[in-house]
Amino acid sequence: MPRAVILGGTGLIGRAAARRLLAAGWDVTAVGRDRSRMPDDVVAAGGRFVAADRNGELAAALGGGADLLVDCLCFTAAHARDLLPLLADVGSTVMISTKAVYVDAAGNHVNSAAAPNFDGPIHESQPTMAPREDVEHLSAEGYGANKVAAERVLLDSGHPVTVLRPSRVHGVGTSKPDEWVFVKRVLDGRRVVVLSRGGRGVDQTSAAANIAALIEVVAQHPGPRVLNSADPDAPNALEISRIVAAHLGHRWQEVLLDEHAPGGLGRHPWDRVPPIRLDMTAARQLGYQPAGDYAATVAAELDWLTAATELPPNFDHDYFTPMLDYAAEDDYLNS
Ligand SMILES: NC(=O)c1ccc[n+]([C@@H]2O[C@H](COP(=O)([O-])OP(=O)(O)OC[C@H]3O[C@@H](n4cnc5c(N)ncnc54)[C@H](OP(=O)(O)O)[C@@H]3O)[C@@H](O)[C@H]2O)c1
Repeated sequence: MPRAVILGGTGLIGRAAARRLLAAGWDVTAVGRDRSRMPDDVVAAGGRFVAADRNGELAAALGGGADLLVDCLCFTAAHARDLLPLLADVGSTVMISTKAVYVDAAGNHVNSAAAPNFDGPIHESQPTMAPREDVEHLSAEGYGANKVAAERVLLDSGHPVTVLRPSRVHGVGTSKPDEWVFVKRVLDGRRVVVLSRGGRGVDQTSAAANIAALIEVVAQHPGPRVLNSADPDAPNALEISRIVAAHLGHRWQEVLLDEHAPGGLGRHPWDRVPPIRLDMTAARQLGYQPAGDYAATVAAELDWLTAATELPPNFDHDYFTPMLDYAAEDDYLNS
């Protein structure tokens, strides 16, 4: 039985990868710091948990080597260099990077002050930020630049490391569920949904289940390469709002704001105009078949959110509060 080790295996992408690989007959070890975050269904399917900190306990995390190593926790060149001595005992490695590495013709990226303008779906050959190690990776300028530095260390290592670049990841277990902006409205019985820029914004979604499907393909085709990892479709915010409302059996009036609406109203997580989409040709050429489109893959997360008795750990209240300002919406609608 082939053996997979997933660093960050109890998280959003890690648990989806564990589920997918277990179903395909792999022996799967999920590495995390807190056993209580290990999903029951992954344990029931035979997944093992190893308690280890990626920062300092990598050898213990990896045990005697693996056919597949999935690293969901590689954010810096230093993290990548920590892996190198272990890779001789690994058949294939997948490093989870991000679309935040890409820059447009003006050098803008998704975390820069000026919004990027990509002229069509982004191919893996699109230029990236320059690699940096001198800036904190938990910062707007540092996140993508440190990811690029980590990618380069691994791609230059001579080992078969595949770098995956997802977009906005959704799925059960996320600590930042973008869809909450609509789910919460449904739970609150709101009869309106207000969308800036008419809900035309697109920031392409990446189901954790689709990333997991691509990880399984890469495991069968080890090699150094970069692959985008996104859903087969790219719904805009209006379409996402309709998918959520339809799944939850809710009806509301759509208020589609134009450029004359007061600033700050109708905020949502996908407000990217021009759109951000990833070109998935390379993954498909490797044999990747998505687990499903956005509507199909988001359903489990919507059910999980509505059934939950409490919000996910580390839920980012500050992020969502401005998107759920009902008082400001009502003032506008009544004016
Ligand atoms: N989420 C997105 O929208 C998104 C988009 C693009 C790219 N990505 C990339 O995807 C990767 C994974 O993201 P994710 O959303 O799956 O993360 P996540 O849900 O936050 O999961 C991370 C997991 O790793 C564990 N962990 C954290 N620090 C650890 C450490 N030092 N040692 C061992 N385990 C540790 C956490 O559990 P404990 O805290 O219990 O240890 C948690 O279960 C990241 O590299 C991120 O850059 C994410």
